[in-house]
Amino acid sequence: MATQTVDIAPAVSKFIARTHQLLIGGRWVAPKAGKAFDVFNPATGDVLARCADGQKEDVDAAVAAARKAFESGPWPAMTVSERGKLVWKLADLLEAHLEEFAQLESLDNGKPVAVARVADVPLSVDLLRYMAGWATKIEGDTIPISVPYAPGEKFLAYTLREPVGVVGQIIPWNFPLLMAAWKLGPALAAGCTIVLKPAEQTPLSALRLGDLVCEAGFPDGVVNVVTGFGETAGAPLAAHPGVDKVAFTGSTEVGKLIVKAAAGNLKKVSLELGGKSPNIVYADADLETAIPGAASAIFFNHGQCCCAGSRLFVEKGVFDKVVDGVAAAAKKIKLGPGLNLDTDMGPLVSSEQFERVTGFLDAGRKEGAKAVCGGGSPGGKGYFVQPTVLVDTRPEMKVVREEIFGPVVAAIPFSDPEQLVRDANNTNYGLAAAVWTRDVSKAHRVAAAIRAGTVWINCFNIFDAALPFGGYKESGWGREMGHEVLKNYTEHKAVCVRL
Ligand code: NAI
Ligand code: MG
Repeated sequence: MATQTVDIAPAVSKFIARTHQLLIGGRWVAPKAGKAFDVFNPATGDVLARCADGQKEDVDAAVAAARKAFESGPWPAMTVSERGKLVWKLADLLEAHLEEFAQLESLDNGKPVAVARVADVPLSVDLLRYMAGWATKIEGDTIPISVPYAPGEKFLAYTLREPVGVVGQIIPWNFPLLMAAWKLGPALAAGCTIVLKPAEQTPLSALRLGDLVCEAGFPDGVVNVVTGFGETAGAPLAAHPGVDKVAFTGSTEVGKLIVKAAAGNLKKVSLELGGKSPNIVYADADLETAIPGAASAIFFNHGQCCCAGSRLFVEKGVFDKVVDGVAAAAKKIKLGPGLNLDTDMGPLVSSEQFERVTGFLDAGRKEGAKAVCGGGSPGGKGYFVQPTVLVDTRPEMKVVREEIFGPVVAAIPFSDPEQLVRDANNTNYGLAAAVWTRDVSKAHRVAAAIRAGTVWINCFNIFDAALPFGGYKESGWGREMGHEVLKNYTEHKAVCVRL
């Protein structure tokens, strides 16, 4: 059967070919230094687009525009209901352009368009709608106070949740649109103004979203988009004295740099960083669901998920069965360009990521790990890596300790349940984990014992706008999504009145 390929929509081709600029103060402007950089199609390695190479002076202009929009003009004067309606409108516009965004995301990031259609874009729409609803529900408290040194006096005390101010948001390339939505949605609902820096690998959907922000009618300067590299655009944003808060998603290494950069004006920081998530399959699990679940835990989005189930712990009695099952699933995965409708797995996002992941595979081999399936690149054009299951690993190996961020899982047998919990927690990360078992009390005991921000039981990669997501330990600070995320974007003010 001939492979069916999606015809690129004219709107997508037209958008990609345009001279991409920076969104600053409600207008598309050229970067001050006039430089641009190449954006690649990871399925071919060819140049897909050229984007504006924003620098410190562009970040300065964007922060100034965001400050102006925060302090004066229509945005701070708007009712919370009007604010919520704008966020909802943005969701509607995004939904109306679903196919266009799915194609853009597939071309830019490499993910199958079929996945972007059902996951990336609808999740972004849903997140924006969920956050739109919060705009009218960000409440303070009234607090009974006693004031022991003022006997006989009465006070009324209450708290206000106010927008934290100008927010710098730096996002990665694994879910370019969804990460933009995770960041913009709550910050807008809270009344902040924003300078968004998308990843240099995948800036296109954030730029297109910038068009929709303008179309939705957000006042000028509420959302600014500056494309560019981490060191030249991200770093000045993180360090900027005019930024009140920085929200970052990406590597733990850069997360630590963000913290240092933020120290200058002690801006607030939230971080959603890496992971090395344990996925635990007990012998009493329903293997019919646990095996495909374990495969998709690592292979979804080509393993380029911060929460990827990259350490697969399997109870000894069923180890071979589970490993064989996951390897069989891996062998069935069809690699191909994201726009082919029969593609299960696209290329990795960049040549850098390709080198990184194949480097891990080489290191694993040298240290004595064995690939049951996959183990390298299929060759040819594009940044493709085969889905790989490693066995015979040891806890000190690089492939067991470090985040690979590719379709590579280390399968590890266990027998002693207490040692298992120690091994699962034996990582600097603490983002997510999963437990597969039919024993309800064991499932909850282990969920409590794992030091991670999310524990899935008999499932994996279940995300919802209402469910907080974030890391323990070096996986981050603060939470994304849910009403918990609003804490990232609000200051809490106590007001006290003598009556
Ligand atoms: P990265 O952390 O360098 O990039 C993420 C974002 O941070 C991008 O927008 C980038 O331009 C920006 N950035 C980079 N250096 C910066 C700096 N000094 N100051 C401010 N912003 C900066 O991630 P990279 O290099 O693309 O990927 C390397 C590894 O990071 C991956 O292999 C993976 O292990 C991990 N990663 C984790 C992600 C997650 O969701 N937790 C997402 C992307 C990468
Ligand atoms: Mg980097």
